[in-house]
Amino acid sequence: MNKAKSLVSITDFDVEEYLKILELAAKFEANSYRNVLNGRVIASLFFEPSTRTRLSFESAINRLGGRVIGFSDIETTSSTKGETLHDTIKIISNYCDLIVMRHPLEGAAKFASEVANVPIINAGDGANQHPTQTLLDMYSITKTQGTLSNLSIALIGDLKYGRTVHSLIMAMKHFNPTFHLVAPPELALPNEYKTILKENNIPFYEHTDMSSVLNEVDIVYMTRVQKERFSDLMEYEKTKNTYILRNEMLAHTKANMKILHPLPRVNEIQQDVDENPKAYYFEQARNGVFTRQAIISYLLQLNV
Ligand code: CP
Repeated sequence: MNKAKSLVSITDFDVEEYLKILELAAKFEANSYRNVLNGRVIASLFFEPSTRTRLSFESAINRLGGRVIGFSDIETTSSTKGETLHDTIKIISNYCDLIVMRHPLEGAAKFASEVANVPIINAGDGANQHPTQTLLDMYSITKTQGTLSNLSIALIGDLKYGRTVHSLIMAMKHFNPTFHLVAPPELALPNEYKTILKENNIPFYEHTDMSSVLNEVDIVYMTRVQKERFSDLMEYEKTKNTYILRNEMLAHTKANMKILHPLPRVNEIQQDVDENPKAYYFEQARNGVFTRQAIISYLLQLNV
């Protein structure tokens, strides 16, 4: 029997599949508890810290009637004895029907998908991709804007190492967006993504000041400057407080505008924003459960 499809990169799905996932996510939001996994086993392998992705996946699996095995701390695994990622994946794929994996190395999920005899879901690989975050972001955009099309989106913060930004650009390029890229020069969007935008005739504008774009856009997508991605901590210290969103800055933003953030935040969104109806990041994180239920169901071709 052929192995079911993996989700390693957001480009593993086409537009029709994005829309199918969003439709399924809405079904799960209406009724989240459906015993369609019927005891099947899913491995949750987190080689890097996580709160939302790991626990929303585990919640999704439990709500689908599945069982979770795995680890959230590699110190408890035989990786500490020198076992390779190849051997770890080869072994664990004998124990489960699907693997959800986060790893600090770019390309680790693709490598795992080539080794495993079960599908892999990439829960984040270094600064490369975070496709399940993108699908929950798309679900959140659809819920708040009523559409994915023709939106003006500000991406603010760490656009260099921000894997959520990279995946989101690759998916949203199909929906005629306009991007405002707001970053300090040290954390600008890598050229490979700008090339993709140019090749797809997607308008984008680069800024270093966020106040000039807040009032223009439908979505403000804030990101954290990620300390863990910097080899030079001086560079992190220099850039970490470049953008701080405060409630008073939202006074003249568009009525439909929503603030998204993949979270965790440090101080790039002040707590006084949380009570503003334009703040959507906590609901966005909640949407992760339904979207991940949809992704698992789709990949395993479950009857929901
Ligand atoms: N958004 C996200 O990936 O959060 P976690 O690192 O907590 O999983």
